Amino acid sequence: MTEGKTSNENLIKWVSKIADQCKPANIHWCDGSQEENDKLCQLMVESGTLIKLNQEIRPNSFLCRSDPKDVARMESRTFICSENEKDAGPTNNWMDPVEMHAKLDDLLKGCMQGRTMYVIPFSMGPIGSPISAIGVEITDSPYVVVNMRIMTRIGNAVLEVLGETGSFVPCFHSVGSPLNEGEKSAVWPCNPENTYIVHFPEERAIFSFGSGYGGNALLGKKCYALRIASVMARDEGWLAEHMLILGVESPKGEKIYVAAAFPSACGKTNFAMIIPPKEMQGWKISTVGDDIAWIKPGDDGKLHAINPEAGFFGVAPGTSLKTNPNAMHSCRANSIFTNVALTDEGDIWWEGMTDETPAHLIDWKGNDWTPDSENLAAHPNSRFTAPASQCPTIDPNWENPDGVPISAMIFGGRRMHDIPLVYQSFNWRHGVYVGATMGSEQTAAAVEGQIGELRRDPFAMIPFCGYNMADYFRHWLNLENKVSELPQIFHVNWFRKNEEDKFIWPGFGQNMRVLKWIIDRIEGKATDHKNELGWVPLYNEMDWRGSDFSEETWNELMAFNIDHLKQQTEKNQQFFDKFADSLPEEINSEQKKLLTRLS
Ligand code: OXD
Ligand code: MN
Repeated sequence: MTEGKTSNENLIKWVSKIADQCKPANIHWCDGSQEENDKLCQLMVESGTLIKLNQEIRPNSFLCRSDPKDVARMESRTFICSENEKDAGPTNNWMDPVEMHAKLDDLLKGCMQGRTMYVIPFSMGPIGSPISAIGVEITDSPYVVVNMRIMTRIGNAVLEVLGETGSFVPCFHSVGSPLNEGEKSAVWPCNPENTYIVHFPEERAIFSFGSGYGGNALLGKKCYALRIASVMARDEGWLAEHMLILGVESPKGEKIYVAAAFPSACGKTNFAMIIPPKEMQGWKISTVGDDIAWIKPGDDGKLHAINPEAGFFGVAPGTSLKTNPNAMHSCRANSIFTNVALTDEGDIWWEGMTDETPAHLIDWKGNDWTPDSENLAAHPNSRFTAPASQCPTIDPNWENPDGVPISAMIFGGRRMHDIPLVYQSFNWRHGVYVGATMGSEQTAAAVEGQIGELRRDPFAMIPFCGYNMADYFRHWLNLENKVSELPQIFHVNWFRKNEEDKFIWPGFGQNMRVLKWIIDRIEGKATDHKNELGWVPLYNEMDWRGSDFSEETWNELMAFNIDHLKQQTEKNQQFFDKFADSLPEEINSEQKKLLTRLS
């Protein structure tokens, strides 16, 4: 059955147990080769799941349309099944692991009938690196295989590293749609009524059933690299974070690395690839990752980060040659597009991609579309899956097994009405409080949230922390005594609006000006000027070369209504109360200190 590919007993046993339960028609061990990928794509073109794009415009790339009922991560169907409910904490859905296993055993019975079961050995991080970790995903979706091949490193090379005794995180996935004898598969099979995305933190195991979309199905990403890895990190003394990583090089050639946590749909991919304004000559940005960072204390006393992924699963709408040329170049070829529109030339399109809207398209549901149509041509959460190696700004160290040393951490959110553009925390403890009180106003990309509502999202980890968040805050606070050169912590808000409901800050490449102030702070070149929130820049400390941003508008951007902010801060208490006595005392005391400063 394994065709002699692995001698790892645990893997062989697990695969044969799952096969016995799920009764697939065939088993295919993925070798990760181009040839295998091409065959699977061809198979999906024939079955109607993929549409081959115009090979001249978009070589080796495909469009896929999901079932309209399966378009996003499903948080309400995501579970952390720790042995004790308290270990999952009040921000996760919990179910007793024994009960959940029984439910899954039922669901798994014969669930792959008529389908091929693919076994995908994958590595999070460069294959064989000491900070990488291995997983094996079993799936009945060939779409998952070809996406996992872009998002992680898969195939025989991983089995070789796994060897006879190596350990792996078992990641089970099924679309939950068995086929009767002779029955033809749906183009996008799924089972929305029975969707479960389940994590067993103590077992270090993942089961996902019923959805084929994104983070529900590409199990290396949110399920492994964040939910399970955050538990591994807690136990082993490191951090698995929802953070992008970028490099900043000054005109003098000095380079530092920064990690940044923003909630979903706040432009992490854009920030990871920003192009500095041309007047800020000599400043260079490079990209290590756009979504996830594994951060470990190094022998040099600093925190070192790797990007465990190998690709970008970016939100398509709003991405353009103007807003993010590097993302557009990353998906120029060898990419998969999900739920975007199709042009008459056989290329892809989405809202915001070009100034001019094409006169005719096929929309994400497969219907004719013109600019007069009432619906969006692309789903707001439509995505491109693109190899990170194709990013023009990819950092030369992006696959360095030692990771890159992190000098600053930036937290942020979409806050239209209250938080100023940027401030720096007074110290590590205050920085942890800043992370613990993050929040973001919801956009159309958050399918389960109410648009405009402020969602509390500490460290951008609310949907991704695999254990009790109060213990997670404690884990962050404890680093203070374990790492001698901790990064400095900042908070940014690109999304402030004025009274006319217009964004005050231009964002995108202009964010480089904020980054430069952050570097100045790290290097001790900017003054100690503070407000109630933290250290803040003065207008004349910012690099305004090539910009006519006025001091008056700057003052508006950096101002905040103290009463409103005090009310917002008081509301943190309701959130903290959920954790009862698990909440670290340091968080309470930082909350009190801020309220005093605001009084
Ligand atoms: C993502 C997310 O897809 O955070 O990266 O939702
Ligand atoms: Mn993300």
